[in-house]
Amino acid sequence: MPISSKIARQMEEASWIRKMFEEGVRLAGQVGAGNIHDFTLGNPDLEPPPEFVESLRDLVVRPRAGMHRYMPNAGYPEVREAVARWVREESGVEVGGKHVILAVGAGGGLNVVLKALLDPGDEVVVFAPYFPEYAFYIDNHGGVLRVVETDGQFRIDFDRLEAAIGPRTKAVFVNSPNNPTGVVYDAAVLARLGGLLRDRSRKLGRAIYLVSDDPYKKILFDGTQYSHVFRHYESSIAVYSHSKDLGLAGERIGHVAVHPAANSAEALVAGMTFAIRVLGFVNAPGLMQLAIRDVLRACIDPSVYQRRRDVLHGALTELGFECVKPRGAFYLFPRSLEPDDRKFAKVCLGKNILIVPGVGFGRSGHFRISLTSSDRAIEASLPAWREVARAYATV
Ligand SMILES: Cc1ncc(COP(=O)(O)O)c(C=O)c1O
Repeated sequence: MPISSKIARQMEEASWIRKMFEEGVRLAGQVGAGNIHDFTLGNPDLEPPPEFVESLRDLVVRPRAGMHRYMPNAGYPEVREAVARWVREESGVEVGGKHVILAVGAGGGLNVVLKALLDPGDEVVVFAPYFPEYAFYIDNHGGVLRVVETDGQFRIDFDRLEAAIGPRTKAVFVNSPNNPTGVVYDAAVLARLGGLLRDRSRKLGRAIYLVSDDPYKKILFDGTQYSHVFRHYESSIAVYSHSKDLGLAGERIGHVAVHPAANSAEALVAGMTFAIRVLGFVNAPGLMQLAIRDVLRACIDPSVYQRRRDVLHGALTELGFECVKPRGAFYLFPRSLEPDDRKFAKVCLGKNILIVPGVGFGRSGHFRISLTSSDRAIEASLPAWREVARAYATV
């Protein structure tokens, strides 16, 4: 076999995504792409806000000497400072530029964090349902994924978490607002989590790191407030990406910030700075670092996603679907109308609807809908959803 057996196995594990994609292509050939209701991809469809476009234009029209050269691996010092000011404002913690490194999106940032943290066999706790790439990222660096189930409303089950933490636990991931559920952890939940990790770290005699991966933190609905992990736990690391807030998924830009009071904060930043280099990223894209420097707080209009959530969540619940109402991000994660979510996906496919089965996110019996289709496309899908409900006699 020309490719490693590990990559072959992982590709097979992730094949449900490819299968949905292939089914979509096949179906498009049969009924025409315009007649398919594709809810699979979480690819933000809103264009970057005008502040970003202006900032990028300015760099192109008035380039700075040397701006395309190599730079320090952690990123341009003035961009690190700008990010630190923003994190300081959000968290109330005295973060400095030296606690920040610019990253190649959240995916790049998480890999840098894990490369710096993990020894082979170290465990990383994630709450299910979870972003599927976590499993691969953790494996990339010799780590072991420890999945902790959430409750029926996708809230953290603290008893299960307590039971999952052991002598090899190195880090716990949180993702809020969550992909795929849209659940947001409020300050009280994060404070409880911080308390638990503080206690268990003390008993272990070393820190368990809390890693927040919150690329949807500006996409909040119904007045929901975001609470930064730095407010709740010292040994925390915040990974961020501008893929969603600025609609820049293809540009690969984000950052990692380390709490200044984190255990071995300085060594951690040094480790991550080395990791970004030896992972072959070298540094986050330079032009993008400069382009986002002054627009870090800008965002696409979250009310667009809220409106789509309202339309589809309202329609599906009326049709008999059970679905926790998302308070952020741009997904719905309803219960499938039969326990086998893969079979359910096939039934949807029969009605020209493409969704992702929940099993891929570590929670069977559910499915994910991405709200990155246009309002018109969402409206146009409603009769097809009614047909799915009819097939299960819920209407
Ligand atoms: C929870 C979560 N983390 C990380 C990522 C990766 O983001 P990026 O494009 O910044 O690598 C995504 C993308 O969908 C995500 O949903």
